[in-house]
Amino acid sequence: MDELFRTLPADAASTDVLAAGGLRYGLVGADPDERDAFSQAVSRGFYSSIAEAEELYEAREAYDDRRTTAVWDDSAAEPETPVATVDSWPTPLTMPGGGSLPAWAISGVTVAPTHRRRGIARALLEGELRTARALRLPIAALTVSEATIYGRFGFAPVASAVDLVIDTRRAAWTGPQAKGRVHFVQRDALRTIAPGIQQRARVAGDVDRWPGYWDRLLGLRASLAKKAADLRAVRYDDEHGEPQGFVVYRVKDAGADFSRHPVEVVDLVAATTDAYAGLWRYLLELDLVHEITVDLRSVDEPLRWMVADPRAVRTRAHSDHLWTRILDVAVALEGRRWQTAGAIVLEVTDPLGFAAGRFSLAVDEAGRATVMTTDAPAEVTLDAGALAAVHLGGTSPLTLAAAGRASGGQEALERLHALAVTPVPPRLSFWF
Ligand SMILES: CC(C)(COP(=O)(O)OP(=O)(O)OC[C@H]1O[C@@H](n2cnc3c(N)ncnc32)[C@H](O)[C@@H]1OP(=O)(O)O)[C@@H](O)C(=O)NCCC(=O)NCCS
Repeated sequence: MDELFRTLPADAASTDVLAAGGLRYGLVGADPDERDAFSQAVSRGFYSSIAEAEELYEAREAYDDRRTTAVWDDSAAEPETPVATVDSWPTPLTMPGGGSLPAWAISGVTVAPTHRRRGIARALLEGELRTARALRLPIAALTVSEATIYGRFGFAPVASAVDLVIDTRRAAWTGPQAKGRVHFVQRDALRTIAPGIQQRARVAGDVDRWPGYWDRLLGLRASLAKKAADLRAVRYDDEHGEPQGFVVYRVKDAGADFSRHPVEVVDLVAATTDAYAGLWRYLLELDLVHEITVDLRSVDEPLRWMVADPRAVRTRAHSDHLWTRILDVAVALEGRRWQTAGAIVLEVTDPLGFAAGRFSLAVDEAGRATVMTTDAPAEVTLDAGALAAVHLGGTSPLTLAAAGRASGGQEALERLHALAVTPVPPRLSFWF
């Protein structure tokens, strides 16, 4: 897989579709100019600034571990700059029960405003799904700029996230007394241990963060030195001195009233409930601070139960975050642990064909599934996106049935609910 995912030729069907429109579709090579033009096209597509030389160099390096695919229009005034981009890579996606499935992560989907709405994104996305399938990956995953784009390709929102605003004056600590202690640490020192802590903290829905991501988060890239100058890093060690969590945050300008500093939490990762309590208490009790904002937290954040006034923890936004698309139903369903023993027959509809079929799901006492195609009558029928939502454990088939995305008898829907829905909601802890 290692090399193949980068070198597998560009999808033949998408090559033909785009060629019919006078466009060239292909992989971006290692040539620095070609890479820079790709980075520029991505920046332009997401309305970011024209990257400085240092950032371009860093972007070039980041793409070493990705498959980078572009579309060129040789009739454009600057034909070397792609008119569409996508980058992708295989990554473990944490499953309910703690194991993982290899997923095809898709990012950097852009189409130039000069070329929009003529089917280029469709060709890119369908090409990505066929490529993932050719690589025998059972599932694709992405985060989205707009929630209107990817449903048509069989993706569905499978893990939500909430952004929180905490009024620290009302949030007196009532949670448990943490047994360890917090330490200020240098950001580069945290860099070596943060990935390991994050690995242990993962719940269903998280994917691997890549080295460049950590460097960016911790402000360790040369181009970010100025922007990161106000970042603080605190590590939590348990009572045995083992690092179990960290928080990276910045204290923002208080304005006229020095007692009212806002704190922005860039990331808080806790591998144990003890570390979670220790880090949150530290933040809530910071002097001269009146408000903490933090994004991408769980929809069921324990913090609300650890403060005197739960209304001190307000939700600023609640939205879809991780989207997945099932490409191989048997491997995907067998790749997670289920909540109870039982069996059910599912009919999956999928206009793109990848997940379509009728499948028997049989779960043993240990929560392990065996999935086979079957001719037995279907008990629950659902579309590929609805299956993805049920698969990760965060969405009830009863909800999907009420929304018209699944159908079946009440007993069968409840049986699928009992099999699938997990006590801890899935969560993806960052954007990719
Ligand atoms: C979103 C984007 C990639 C779409 O590219 P595009 O080439 O114009 O899309 P296509 O022409 O292939 O459209 C495919 C389908 O998606 C629909 N669609 C495309 N963009 C959409 C959007 N933003 N909202 C709703 N529907 C959209 C099209 O109407 C079309 O529908 P149909 O096949 O049912 O007729 C492009 O507008 C873009 O680069 N936007 C800015 C960057 C961005 O948001 N990227 C996505 C990152 S997750």
